[in-house]
Amino acid sequence: MEWNKRDKTAIWHPCTPQWKEEYNINIVRGKGIYLYDDQGNEYIDAVSSWWVNLHGHAHPHINERLKEQLDLLEHVIFAGFTHQPAIELAEEILKLLPENQSKIFYSDNGSTAVEVAIKITMQYWYNIGQKKLSFIAFENSYHGDTFGSMAVGADSPFNDPYGKPAFNVIHIPTPTSDNIQHIVEKITHIHQQYDIAGFIFEPLVQGWAGMLMYEAELLEKIIRHCKQLNIITIADEVMTGFGRTGAMFACDHLDEAPDIFCLSKGITGGYMALGATSCTSKIYHAYLQKDPLKTFYHGHSYTANPLACTAGLASLEIFKQPGYIDEIIRIVYKHQAFLYQLQNHPKVKNARQTGTILAFDIKNNEPTGYFNSKRDQYYYAFLKKGVLLRPLGNTIYLIPPYCITNEELDKVYAIILETLKVL
Ligand SMILES: Cc1ncc(COP(=O)(O)O)c(C=O)c1O
Repeated sequence: MEWNKRDKTAIWHPCTPQWKEEYNINIVRGKGIYLYDDQGNEYIDAVSSWWVNLHGHAHPHINERLKEQLDLLEHVIFAGFTHQPAIELAEEILKLLPENQSKIFYSDNGSTAVEVAIKITMQYWYNIGQKKLSFIAFENSYHGDTFGSMAVGADSPFNDPYGKPAFNVIHIPTPTSDNIQHIVEKITHIHQQYDIAGFIFEPLVQGWAGMLMYEAELLEKIIRHCKQLNIITIADEVMTGFGRTGAMFACDHLDEAPDIFCLSKGITGGYMALGATSCTSKIYHAYLQKDPLKTFYHGHSYTANPLACTAGLASLEIFKQPGYIDEIIRIVYKHQAFLYQLQNHPKVKNARQTGTILAFDIKNNEPTGYFNSKRDQYYYAFLKKGVLLRPLGNTIYLIPPYCITNEELDKVYAIILETLKVL
């Protein structure tokens, strides 16, 4: 309790209404999928601590690699200097991304990975002598909390206090088989009206909008069309990257590779803040000019932090362990079986799944969305039962670390069903 008082006095927590006498659970230790608080309670981290953790907390291999790196180099300026972990991580990520990706630009979180993508795109056109500053994005999108990433995000009441977006963004509906033709025509029309620099999207799953899911083939059609119109396509894989959709990247489910990728969250296995933006050689080549104004003048103090890059390398080494991918697929199948149960549940609607991400909405007479009153009821009920599930309004979702066992998954599913019974 003492810690909570001190926390309240000194700290302003993210996305947390400050007027509420809300108790912030004091976590003292993590191990695998479990978090332990200072009262001796344990919680299954079924949302991977804001979707970052891949292999479990305090993973022995990542810990070991970090301890070694800590004694060698904790940080160094990344302009004019480089280091082995950054080089190796960039090489490894490029091996995993589609072949058209040729360079990695580091930053330090998901929002900055998106900011970098937006700025690289705008300046690409500037560098080749064209002014294109507008973007296309999906209506339900979320790309981060900085001004550029907010601008490409959905029109939302959360952005009202901050005035007009920093640049022009035209939103299009999330694709369905019914509206895809209309969307393709709309893009053509928008392209005729505005100087469109790029199209940014969360591939297959729109996280913050409530884990909304859409089909790969629909996205593929949109990307192909954008490419025909010379619009740069930007995949924001900040959430979907590193196995979440059952493939290394959500775009691996497509044949058409986007021009730019934004990565963060799972990039370090959930250990440290790191962002990465990759691009094609065509985009990069526009920056190989002697004119000083054609250089990309963007950098963050902690860019390519050696500890973060080492955590990233250690995380990718875990993916290479024999049978590791099968573990991810195991979760996909476990979810599938539970999905059938949810689909027939009288209190549930829109049960859905993409890879290791499972989501459903609770029926009530309020609109589905962030402010639905079911959120708090379910959030606290789950915590009481020892599971961290952080509903997005009336949308409950699971995005667990890959080390979760079948028994632990069964326990989480059972707690969900029990809670549905009583609330
Ligand atoms: C798709 C997507 N892009 C960007 C971000 C922003 O990442 P960060 O919170 O690290 O700034 C998020 C965060 O949830 C996200 O889901």
